Amino acid sequence: QRPILRLLSCPGTVAEDLRRNEQPSGSVETGFEDKIPRKRFSEMQNERREQAQRTVLIRCPEKISENKFLKYLSQHGPINNHFFYESFGLYAVVEFCRKESVGSLQNGTRTPSVAMETAIPFRSRFLSLKLKNQTSEQSCIQSSNQLPPSNRKLFELLCYAESIDDQLNTLLKEFQLTEENTKLRYLTCSLIEDIAAAYFPDCVVRPFGSSVNTFGKLGCDLDMFLDLDETRNLSTHKTSGNFLMEFQVKNVPSERIATQKILSVIGECLDHFGPGCVGVQKILNARCPLVRFSHQASGFQCDLTTNNRIALTSSELLYIYGTLDSRVRALVFGIRCWARAHSLTSSIPGAWITNFSLTMMVIFFLQRRSPPILPTLDSLKTLADAEDKCIIEGNNCTFVRDLNRIKPSGNTETLELLLKEFFEYFGNFAFNKNSINIRQGREQNKPDSSPLYIQNPFETSLNISKNVSQSQLQKFVDLAQESAWVLQQKDTDRLSVSSHQPWGLAAILLPSVPNRRSLTKKKRKRSANESIKNLLESLKSNRTANFTETNEK
Ligand code: CTP
Ligand code: MG
Repeated sequence: QRPILRLLSCPGTVAEDLRRNEQPSGSVETGFEDKIPRKRFSEMQNERREQAQRTVLIRCPEKISENKFLKYLSQHGPINNHFFYESFGLYAVVEFCRKESVGSLQNGTRTPSVAMETAIPFRSRFLSLKLKNQTSEQSCIQSSNQLPPSNRKLFELLCYAESIDDQLNTLLKEFQLTEENTKLRYLTCSLIEDIAAAYFPDCVVRPFGSSVNTFGKLGCDLDMFLDLDETRNLSTHKTSGNFLMEFQVKNVPSERIATQKILSVIGECLDHFGPGCVGVQKILNARCPLVRFSHQASGFQCDLTTNNRIALTSSELLYIYGTLDSRVRALVFGIRCWARAHSLTSSIPGAWITNFSLTMMVIFFLQRRSPPILPTLDSLKTLADAEDKCIIEGNNCTFVRDLNRIKPSGNTETLELLLKEFFEYFGNFAFNKNSINIRQGREQNKPDSSPLYIQNPFETSLNISKNVSQSQLQKFVDLAQESAWVLQQKDTDRLSVSSHQPWGLAAILLPSVPNRRSLTKKKRKRSANESIKNLLESLKSNRTANFTETNEK
């Protein structure tokens, strides 16, 4: 059956093009990214969105023949690519070459009627496959993994790495969003867009935040932005003529109330007939109103906002920083994992540092190197052309969008050095008087008494880490100092221990002993040795199991 399927798949598609252009994890080591023309954020978003519109999500029975499944779907048109994944059941993501195929497939499906229950007949691209006759064939579907590695697997990989640089690149490879996971994120936004389009036919639902800014870890939330600009602009296209065509609109007193009303109805919609949307919460009184829900089939925790274009722009800025130099993402992932391992960050909102703030701190640190590894936002602004000019709600969001116009850094420092220096730098930073500012790339006096002040790059009067308490900041500083110390020690330790023991990055991801710095040196050494010994024991006993193990849920 293989030849038939190959004949059906279409050549030279956007997906292949993207695969050629994207930076696979391997590029971290090879440095190939310098030779490939790099896509603009908006191009990447548009292509992915168009891909997602040709894609369907299908819940499959446990036993299924992949060949028959694809052959059946190919009746509706050639398939560009597909993959399966598990999320409390087996799912398939199938991308057709043409959008019409989706309509054709939908026309051939029916709304199931189950005794005692009635389905709301909402025409979606989330389908469920029921087989009339159970297949007797053994299902040997290869599932694509959507979860990060277990701690055990991670420690093992890190212990076997050759250098701290190698460890950071390994961590990046294991945690970064895969091609499949990225596709699933865009597909989920596209499915939500279908629902929102019931109210706003020209709306676009765009992912932002870590799903698209190159810093997303497997398992991170999916931030979505309901973009109504198309709808808004329809009424302003025509500027002359005798007739003024106006939509019948209802006026409300403020932009905020409009946002709340829009999100309120979309929230209702998702709750009442959004296939697979559960636990819908409308959080409309927040500074940035949102609807939070779980998309069960994809397993994503979603935050939907509207009127949040600045956040999309800051995702674009981070995308540029993450793509410019291969060391940036490796360092950010290392610091994010380190912070998570020590409970400096949390999935629950509170007084902790967020991943977004940590990323800003890494960017700032890399701007401060000599020569700088990353350019300041002001210098990206000077490289901008007329097309890049952008003012949002009175804030100047102009910066160069074409990555190929930014000169690569001449700095050749290793990741190992950068990691150590990051901890040294922030372990001794004058947080009491200085703020962090990536626009100018230098410290400035804090404009208020917040313990941690990181200037919002576009809404420059805002502090993105306003939520952080003094005690959480102190915890960060203590751990940074401790980790700098551990990394210094490991320079000599590494020569005396076999490579199977936690060292380098693995050593600083271990839970720390409170106030370790105040303990005597002897005691310090003993506790570290004990942790290492325990970990080694558990690695030994689980080594065989680990290689076959799937990820921790
Ligand atoms: N954002 C912002 N100002 C803040 C918080 C968030 O502008 N004070 C924007 C940023 O663009 C951020 C996005 O909102 O990337 C999403 O916020 P969040 O989900 O908290 O951060 P992520 O970067 O997505 O990181 P995570 O992986 O922790 O979700
Ligand atoms: Mg997020």
